[in-house]
Amino acid sequence: MRQTAAIKPSSAWREADIKEFEGGIIARMSKDWALLAAGSAEDYNAMTVSWRLMGYLWERPVVVCFVRPQRFTRNFVDKNDGFSLTFFGKETKTRVHKVFGFESGKDIDKAAKAKAQPIVFDGGAIGFEEAKETISCRKIYADDFNSKNFLDRSIDKLYDGDYHRFYIGEIVGFYKK
Ligand SMILES: Cc1cc2nc3c(=O)[nH]c(=O)nc-3n(C[C@H](O)[C@H](O)[C@H](O)COP(=O)(O)O)c2cc1C
Repeated sequence: MRQTAAIKPSSAWREADIKEFEGGIIARMSKDWALLAAGSAEDYNAMTVSWRLMGYLWERPVVVCFVRPQRFTRNFVDKNDGFSLTFFGKETKTRVHKVFGFESGKDIDKAAKAKAQPIVFDGGAIGFEEAKETISCRKIYADDFNSKNFLDRSIDKLYDGDYHRFYIGEIVGFYKK
């Protein structure tokens, strides 16, 4: 059946920045970089990520992370059943991301260089003592972006063939100070 026709909105509506979306999730995700970590206490790696999604899917809260093939962290996310996302306060984040976002665990001990103390929560999630929040996820889906599916062709310019693998993680733990 034809539905009630749509009309112009009342003056109560205004165009706003999506960062004002109630709950502030976009504002938070766009400014609050995180460390993505995977592995065990003795054999893990972590790197800075800024592209993430958080939401609700398949009747559970989820996080989606995107990792390019050349990242050392990628092997750890692939090899392990889960990953974690750790958020730092303003007093530590610059120091941490300067190392974890620009240097590779292939070459250096990132935690030592960033003066960050890795910790492992019961359940196995890797976090950092200096941080303020850690989300622990169980991988439930992974796939690689396929350039033929980019409906906005300009997205392809962000790549040099190194399409992200994305991981949907069920949030199974949350730790905060
Ligand atoms: C702000 C920021 C955000 C980043 N976000 C991502 C991301 O979402 N996915 C990704 O693959 N790399 C991302 N990177 C790049 C990695 O953090 C960087 O290449 C890192 O050195 C990889 O370390 P690894 O080789 O030890 O894994 C980001 C870097 C910065 C500085």
